[in-house]
Amino acid sequence: MKTPLPPAHCTFEPDDWLRLARCWHPVARLCDVGPAPMKAVLLDEQLVIYRIGEQIVAAKDVCPHRGVPLTLGFHDEHGIICPYHGLRFGADGRCNRIPSSPDQPVPAKLNLLSFPVEVRFGLVWVCLAPDEENPAPLPEMPHWEDAGFQQINCPPFDVAGFAGRQVEGFLDVAHFAWVHTDTFADASNQTVPPYNPVETDYGFAVDYWSSVSNYAAGSGQQAPEGFQWLRHFEMHLPFTATLTVHFPDTARLVIMNAASPVSARKTRMFAPVARNFDLHIPVEEVEAFNHRVFEEDRLMVETQMPERLPLDLTLEAHIPADRSSIAYRRGLKKQGYGEFFLV
Ligand code: FES
Ligand SMILES: [Fe+2]
Repeated sequence: MKTPLPPAHCTFEPDDWLRLARCWHPVARLCDVGPAPMKAVLLDEQLVIYRIGEQIVAAKDVCPHRGVPLTLGFHDEHGIICPYHGLRFGADGRCNRIPSSPDQPVPAKLNLLSFPVEVRFGLVWVCLAPDEENPAPLPEMPHWEDAGFQQINCPPFDVAGFAGRQVEGFLDVAHFAWVHTDTFADASNQTVPPYNPVETDYGFAVDYWSSVSNYAAGSGQQAPEGFQWLRHFEMHLPFTATLTVHFPDTARLVIMNAASPVSARKTRMFAPVARNFDLHIPVEEVEAFNHRVFEEDRLMVETQMPERLPLDLTLEAHIPADRSSIAYRRGLKKQGYGEFFLV
């Protein structure tokens, strides 16, 4: 198979682009995809996404006839329709109508350039450059399918920053007392007890024990005196992490931070959530709370310099609380990633 080329005006260094294009990335929530052409951008590639029957199609947003974006077009029950000459594309991205020659057969090769799609955790995942010999695994999410757990899919959250910086922020436990004091953390609880990332097949896992509560500020809820909170992180390189928060008794909250690299400087963050408590609280409240937490992180992620994540550990200073961040950078480096950005 031919090695796919990065799109024009690609913001990634070509080797990093290809390595990232071999992986699965989320591009939309399943609930947002309908029969109308929907736009998404992944790794600088412009995509059109639509639903036809039970099938989700993700393809290059370029009509194979004269190159007009399908996302400017329309749809009917048989597919999406290009706005220029009305060619219609249905299942598997195949053309099924040429309005200017309705009596002639449609050439079998008249297809959109489509990509493999998987639906997991209420998200549509796309792989731009599948490696048939060595297919990339999809991330897993603890408890998503378990009985008693509610599945919530927060609206996507756009960040004007690099996915690697955003993910590193999600793994960072030293910023709670500084950035998240309006939502859950305590400004006076600043110490980070030691913790140790353990390498896994897809990245690493971390058990982080501390006294930082995860109850919403102002909720009046409190854990028993001396309660130690376990936050279990699982990093699936390059950009998907899950956090399972162990509340008192058997209450669990799982948040997936699936950062989709729109470009080297833009990220669309998807956040499926699963929980087995407070099921009477409207999901909108959970979504609003998560939104506030991610909003608190925004200023940091969008202003960090350099914009890319320096994988050479000598380029930034590290403190003992950074074990996850160091494991993250080492993991990316081990997978062969370089500098991520062209400039
Ligand atoms: S450019 Fe799409 S139908 Fe002609
Ligand atoms: Fe944060």
